[in-house]
Amino acid sequence: MKTKPAKLNRSLRLSKEEIRNYSERLVSLTNPANVNSITNQIINQDIFDVIEFLPSGFVDLLFIDPPYNISKKFNQVSFREMGMFEYIKWFDSWLSKVVRLLKINASIYICGDWKSSAAVFLTGSKYFQVMNRITWEREKGRGAKSNWKNCSEDIWFFTNSQEYKFNVDDVKLRRKVLAPYKDENRKPKDWSKNQEGNFRDTFPSNIWNDISVPFWSMPENTDHPTQKPEKLLAKIILASTDKGELVFDPFLGSGTTAVVAKKLGRNYVGVEVDEYYCCLAEKRIELAEKDERIQGFEDGVFWERNTLVNQVKIQKSEIKRK
Ligand SMILES: C[S@@+](CC[C@H](N)C(=O)[O-])C[C@H]1O[C@@H](n2cnc3c(N)ncnc32)[C@H](O)[C@@H]1O
Repeated sequence: MKTKPAKLNRSLRLSKEEIRNYSERLVSLTNPANVNSITNQIINQDIFDVIEFLPSGFVDLLFIDPPYNISKKFNQVSFREMGMFEYIKWFDSWLSKVVRLLKINASIYICGDWKSSAAVFLTGSKYFQVMNRITWEREKGRGAKSNWKNCSEDIWFFTNSQEYKFNVDDVKLRRKVLAPYKDENRKPKDWSKNQEGNFRDTFPSNIWNDISVPFWSMPENTDHPTQKPEKLLAKIILASTDKGELVFDPFLGSGTTAVVAKKLGRNYVGVEVDEYYCCLAEKRIELAEKDERIQGFEDGVFWERNTLVNQVKIQKSEIKRK
């Protein structure tokens, strides 16, 4: 017997008819393409089959969330765990070809878990300048009986040259002030008071513990097994691009990169081998036309965890003001 989804379950689903309709929007390349013909498109192909048809020097930001080095099923496609050196070889076989697609001042972010992270660093540093390793707390996941539970992932930040952009003011983190220090004139020092309390906008670090992994009551949730949170992509896109620039994702999955790019006024190109995931991405992109909100990014700033109540109040007072 099929169980009905819980009432509060807001996960996105696709009907057969939607799959038919969305699949008509997908692109497939058999010849070299120019930038205009692929801008804001999802290419439903294996990255190995399409890479040679993509134009040179069109990417401002490259975001890569590849299959990690673990055995995993992505709908129709299965990825098999390999030895680290075999994984590095596989990684290099496509990353070496992606380099041609980048603008000279492009930024590159590549995700990995603890097991794949060394391979990401070794391969990425062959082609790019290593800038940093971001570690984010992934508070979902199974407990382990004979090991430490895995609760983190890495994102390596590289640049294609010394010339790159980093919009630090766009990615500050709003935190509650626990000790509201005042200066000699009794004025708040580096923090401000509003109707929601005392907050400070702080410089973003390479430890991110303000990210929630999508789950069933979040509207961004799909049944993709390794979907990245929109808030995570928003930080990367805002820090490393300006409006109108282009983000490329060669393993698009359920489309998070494209959705967030759209919500933030950037362009995207995504490649994904699985048609069902491409259709999920198209549906999310369509929904983003009507709703540009990104959970955890409110009032132009990122909020630390457990401040949703304050964010909602700010949202409501904004609506009243308008
Ligand atoms: C880690 S997931 C990406 C998840 C994505 N960031 C999201 O938020 O949904 C990797 C994706 O790569 C796709 N994939 C695996 N091998 C591929 C290939 N050779 N070419 C294109 N896509 C591939 C899988 O189907 C999977 O959806």
